[in-house]
Amino acid sequence: MTIPANTRQQAQDLLDFIDASPSPWHAVATCEQRLQAAGFARLDETERWTLQAGDKRYVVRGDAAIIAFVVGSAALAESGLRIIGAHTDSPGLRIKPRPAEEVGGMVRLGVEVYGGPILATFADRDLSLAGRVHVRTPDGFATRLVRFADPLLRLPNLAIHMNREVNESGLKFNKQSELPLLLGVAEEGVKADARFRQPIAAALGVEPGDLLTWELNAYDTQKGSLWGADREFIADSQLDNLASCHAALNALLATDQPAATCLCAFFDHEEVGSESAAGAGGSFIADVLARLAGNAGLDGEDQRRMVARSFFISADMAHGWHPNFPAAYEPCHHALVNAGPVIKSNANQRYSTTGETAARFMALCARAGVPCQQYAHRTDLGCGSTIGPIVAARLGIPSVDVGSPMWAMHSIRESAGVLDHGYMIAALSAAFAD
Ligand code: CO
Repeated sequence: MTIPANTRQQAQDLLDFIDASPSPWHAVATCEQRLQAAGFARLDETERWTLQAGDKRYVVRGDAAIIAFVVGSAALAESGLRIIGAHTDSPGLRIKPRPAEEVGGMVRLGVEVYGGPILATFADRDLSLAGRVHVRTPDGFATRLVRFADPLLRLPNLAIHMNREVNESGLKFNKQSELPLLLGVAEEGVKADARFRQPIAAALGVEPGDLLTWELNAYDTQKGSLWGADREFIADSQLDNLASCHAALNALLATDQPAATCLCAFFDHEEVGSESAAGAGGSFIADVLARLAGNAGLDGEDQRRMVARSFFISADMAHGWHPNFPAAYEPCHHALVNAGPVIKSNANQRYSTTGETAARFMALCARAGVPCQQYAHRTDLGCGSTIGPIVAARLGIPSVDVGSPMWAMHSIRESAGVLDHGYMIAALSAAFAD
């Protein structure tokens, strides 16, 4: 299979983007760096905004959700907005507020399961800590990002000699007792809590007692890779959904002086239901749209015209057909890896796609010169959902759910196609030019 040099470069850039983003807070910081480098200026939700055509701006909420936009030259009520949504969070293990415990001469950290990870894939990986920490300061506290490059933590498997049925029954962990992550050997006279605080305090250059609270992700330190006979596949953590964030961000960064206002919204908390201030179920995107409309001087009538002329693309990964598990799939809806963006449909509105919005996305793909595919889940299996139906219901904007096909969704090491990533960037770029 031949892969164009530009597509290869886009895939490599995705791996770099994910490697720089070991937690949702880091993902937003990575987006922010790239936006600033491209001339986007940060807005603050607490300040008054003044916007004009051509302005490139972004706003962050809760450090883990970000909305970036380019103000179009056309009147908002006449053109509406072109919006692409995705999410910054991924399922995994989060460190508890008081995590450190000494057990039988070892120090281990208690974790909460965030969302729906494939827990077995977290065993025997070179895990470390990344996230945000709130540190005491003379006037209160300051928020700092922290990340350890070296492996600090591990969930060692139980040997097969003590778990003889593992290959027949599957690898299972009791979430309370068997998931804590090993941090080190306990030291005489040193509390487990001190062993946990010490490396974080040292990394941030503060006193261990000044660490007030933390939100830390156990992340995989192994970098992303390209694999396959022609290196046509991608392997990395968090492809769901940082691959969609990266594709949408690239499309926005390539947008200059658009007619319609183009906007990317990357939310936190999708994997746990989106009901939070920084989630798609919160007011973030509605607040930003209201401020855009207010800045353009739209009255109530024109605000509704703006909404009615807008289009929302919910970009989240799709299930690629796995040749080893043909029975898991709906026979007529095989979405093949490296065969193009997937339009996801569900009559019960687990996806926001309608026949009309699917047709509109097909037209965008045709314009971009990329193939596209359709996916429906097996009728006897419940399918996942996305931010699509939540945003569509909240804003009343016609919406479509799309994504690149991938394998092993919610594994700590997921796979996808190099060609698909390039196709998705092209399709989303066409959406911003529509
Ligand atoms: Co997702």
